[in-house]
Amino acid sequence: MTDTFLVDIVAGLTRSPKTLPSMYFYNKAGSKLFQTIMQLPEYYLTKSEYEILDTQSKDIYNDFNPHKKFEIVEFGAGDGSKTKLLLKEILNHTEDFIYSPVDISDTALKGLTQSFEKELPKLNLNPINDDYFSALDELKSKSTTKLVLFMGSNVGNFKDDGEIDFLKKMRANIRGGDFALIGFDLKKDPRIILDAYNDKSGVTREFNLNLLRRINEELGADFDVPSYEHYPTYNPISGEASSYLISLKDQTVRFSDKVFEFKYGEPIFMEISKKYSDTDITELAESTGFEIVKNYYDCKHYFVDSLWRAI
Ligand code: AVI
Repeated sequence: MTDTFLVDIVAGLTRSPKTLPSMYFYNKAGSKLFQTIMQLPEYYLTKSEYEILDTQSKDIYNDFNPHKKFEIVEFGAGDGSKTKLLLKEILNHTEDFIYSPVDISDTALKGLTQSFEKELPKLNLNPINDDYFSALDELKSKSTTKLVLFMGSNVGNFKDDGEIDFLKKMRANIRGGDFALIGFDLKKDPRIILDAYNDKSGVTREFNLNLLRRINEELGADFDVPSYEHYPTYNPISGEASSYLISLKDQTVRFSDKVFEFKYGEPIFMEISKKYSDTDITELAESTGFEIVKNYYDCKHYFVDSLWRAI
């Protein structure tokens, strides 16, 4: 991991504007902070998707039911607390399926395995500790009908429209008639969105700064963490919620024989969390080789789990 980590961090800090890959937020401390974020009053996404799965898992199963053995592959499974609702419902009907959660965080995956083995003992569980793109390659070799889960608005975290490439690659590695269930955070009152990434208790701020701490710990860098500040923004036209760390002074950071200069006020682009309209979702499905089977919304219409069929 360290080699790729070093290469990616150096590449990001060499770009202009500087950027850091948000997939590296999730070390042990970062995964814990994300668990806390999911409980925050401002972070409505988890609550909305939980409600969808709590009230509509039966419909989702009925709309997807392939009437034969299948495999569920979940990208970015995290702690799996929401997926558990769907799996419980499916287990009421059949045990003839494999559940393969993929996550880059070993910590999250271990937690999931522990809780699922205890609470869903009949589940055929096959955890995969990997990044999304490597795990996508493995999809191709599987001939059983697939339901690919990509929940929790993870689809919104790709920079440079990378979700289009990811979904196209996913489509190329599954077969016509396979399914995907994708969780999208919907465009809404911009203040509600901005608050979700600018919580009063400052956990999201810590979540962003934690990546600088991780770079210090794992790569021997000398980021002076308190001299960077979290700056979240939301653009209601593009639907992009973006987080930056702003350098609060002119400063120099050194690691691995490299030197990076930061000017006062200079941003590091940390994370994008994209929000979608219904039209954006339809266009994304069409442009990546899928058709929408059904959309499942929460009662506030804040979030949608969209069931797609590969065409
Ligand atoms: C994991 N992902 C969907 C979260 C999001 O909302 O984009 C990560 C996050 N970043 C800040 N808060 C939560």
